[in-house]
Amino acid sequence: MEKILVLDFGGQYDLLIARRVRELGVYAEIQPYNKITLEQIKENGYKGVIFTGGPNSVYDESSPHYDPAILDAGIPVLGICYGHQLIAYMAGGVIESAGSISEYGKTDVYAEGSALFEGIPGKSVCWMSHTDYVSRAPAGFEITARTDSCPCAAMADESRRIYGVQFHPEVTHTEYGKTVLSNFVFRVCSCRGDWRMDDFIERSVEKYRKKLSGKRVLCALSGGVDSSVAAVLMHRAIGDDLTCVFVDHGLLRKNEGDDVERVFRGGFNMKLVRVDAEERFLSHLRGVTEPEKKRKIIGEQFIRVFEEQSRVLGKMDVLVQGTIYPDVVESGKGDASTIKSHHNVGGLPSVMDFEEIVEPLRELFKDEVRAVGLKLGIPEALVMRQPFPGPGLAVRIIGEITKEKADTLREADAIFREELEKASVRPSQYFAVLTDTQSVGVMGDARTYGHTVALRAVTTDDFMTADWTRIPYEVIDSASRRITNEVRTINRVVYDVTSKPPATVEWE
Ligand code: XMP
Repeated sequence: MEKILVLDFGGQYDLLIARRVRELGVYAEIQPYNKITLEQIKENGYKGVIFTGGPNSVYDESSPHYDPAILDAGIPVLGICYGHQLIAYMAGGVIESAGSISEYGKTDVYAEGSALFEGIPGKSVCWMSHTDYVSRAPAGFEITARTDSCPCAAMADESRRIYGVQFHPEVTHTEYGKTVLSNFVFRVCSCRGDWRMDDFIERSVEKYRKKLSGKRVLCALSGGVDSSVAAVLMHRAIGDDLTCVFVDHGLLRKNEGDDVERVFRGGFNMKLVRVDAEERFLSHLRGVTEPEKKRKIIGEQFIRVFEEQSRVLGKMDVLVQGTIYPDVVESGKGDASTIKSHHNVGGLPSVMDFEEIVEPLRELFKDEVRAVGLKLGIPEALVMRQPFPGPGLAVRIIGEITKEKADTLREADAIFREELEKASVRPSQYFAVLTDTQSVGVMGDARTYGHTVALRAVTTDDFMTADWTRIPYEVIDSASRRITNEVRTINRVVYDVTSKPPATVEWE
């Protein structure tokens, strides 16, 4: 299989680069610069290497460097940003700091003849983000692009097939970024572009089948997209050596526990332990109203449940987690290979003492995870589902949590979701919230004093900011009618028209 190596020098964009290359149909693999030797690079038969950006200046003592012999190894190299400067440094060019006049944002770039710029107009827009710049290209390199303040925005040694660009072709703001990467991958590295998502599945299955043979592997299944896809992928690799544990804390959405069980135990025939812990969670939450305290209790009880399970199941060697790329970015890059340095495990106790954590999806973006899930045969309704917070309905019941309130909210939430789905309205996230307000109503001739439910629907790409969704009035109307008719204790429905910020997506 043809592969491109993305050699990571600590930039923000390593996965974005890999993703862009994969979009071109060529498998891209990321390795930190200090985890792979030049010998290994040669042995692995990469068709080309891309040096990523990085936060450092090449002259800093601590800045990441690489064996300069890579430039003579006969493998095409493309350096981006810091990677471009590093190539210049390794080949004897000069790098200077622009001091306070760093170049940042969309910038006009003037490109000249180079294999990298085939099909790109002489003037186009690129995305810059740097302070240091190459002030003199090394011997053997030609300057192939410049901007008004950057004399060497790109350089090339066509004979050795070594290229550097100061700008970021991987970000969409660079008008012809895709063409630059495509030129590198196809024209320079002569790739064919026949890699598909199926290959990711096959490769992962083969890799983990070898790596985990004879090990006992645990996957904490939440029923969310990521852990589900990770579980099915690992199940394909190691079958019954995988045990999934699904904790039903009594704060799941309507039918969720049964759906998870049906898909994984019934559909995929996986070893699944469903722990019914509703009573445990609700009794610990009794009387608690403070949101952070609720979260702490839930986290703590997850740990207790897993401790109990570890006694029942016996020692497990490996933990599978559904970490995906945005999680990796959010928790900061670090060596996530041991449980101690990893904080993303939410709810798994240290006594479980895993030898290793495996995160088969850590290089994928959400849409890629979904594509893998569909190819693995996971039902679309599960693969395309909206995000649901780990603490479940606990964050959507304001004030004290009781079983009666959880049941009430579950019904209202299911109706709202059904009505939106019926109308084919698909906000990024949509749910009901049980507010802590009760109010007077009238039903028939009788006075009622019931709960107020708030409906929430948001439109967002990244959940960091969000707009409230303008769902049609008729849909709100039918949801409101059905909720007040079918859920006896609710007599008032309101729609949340606040964006994030200043609100958040969840109420809690
Ligand atoms: P907020 O309310 O912070 O939510 O605007 C942003 C997104 O994060 C989800 N969320 C969580 N997801 N565990 C999760 O897995 C949590 O504790 C949690 N809290 C919020 C929320 O549903 C929304 O998609």
